[in-house]
Amino acid sequence: MAKLRLGVMISGSGTNLQSLIDACSTSAYPAEIMVVISNRPNAGGLARAEKAHIPSHVIDHKDYSDRADFEEELHKCLKNHDVQLVCLAGFMRLLNADFVNRWRDRMINIHPSLLPSYKGLHTYERAIEDGVRFGGCTIHYVRPEMDNGPILMQAAVPIADGETPKSLAAKVLTYEHQLYPAAVRMIAEGKTRVSGGKVVFNDTDMGEKGLISPII
Ligand code: GRF
Repeated sequence: MAKLRLGVMISGSGTNLQSLIDACSTSAYPAEIMVVISNRPNAGGLARAEKAHIPSHVIDHKDYSDRADFEEELHKCLKNHDVQLVCLAGFMRLLNADFVNRWRDRMINIHPSLLPSYKGLHTYERAIEDGVRFGGCTIHYVRPEMDNGPILMQAAVPIADGETPKSLAAKVLTYEHQLYPAAVRMIAEGKTRVSGGKVVFNDTDMGEKGLISPII
């Protein structure tokens, strides 16, 4: 079966990109990365793409006075590489509704909280400050409102006493790296679809077991 063609958009170190590169490097994985786009010329993820011999492009938002022109360039680049699914992986620019709607149900994002809680920045600090017992991460389809859209997958991570934003970020990140390749696989294998603003799954085990923290 033909592999799902991915475009990965980054702004930073690209550890999530790396998890996708690693997954795609096995022949049985049902997706391949056609292009990596960074809006920052110095993003660490660009070296990861180069090392994996994946075409990469810097499309620097600072070179565009108009957000629509910047996004037109992103769109053209994704189209040039015949991308079928856009994966935002630490891409730190808000995208206009026009762009988002052009990729509706064909663009996913990873966010380091259990959405819809803690949208935006400083998710770890805010969760620790509130004293919630779980943090986590979410993969969701992108909608024009920030960190919104049908939720595909989540991982919950217990927040320990004395947890710091740094320690929580490190814990959550290891789950992000499992979640992104798994979410892309689900889509590539046709196991999910968006219906009525939610993601529904065919033939997928959701498990029965709840998580309790602290453990009793
Ligand atoms: C991750 O925490 C992701 O959830 C958030 O940005 C960070 C990107 O990290 N959207 P990396 O660039 O993939 O290492």
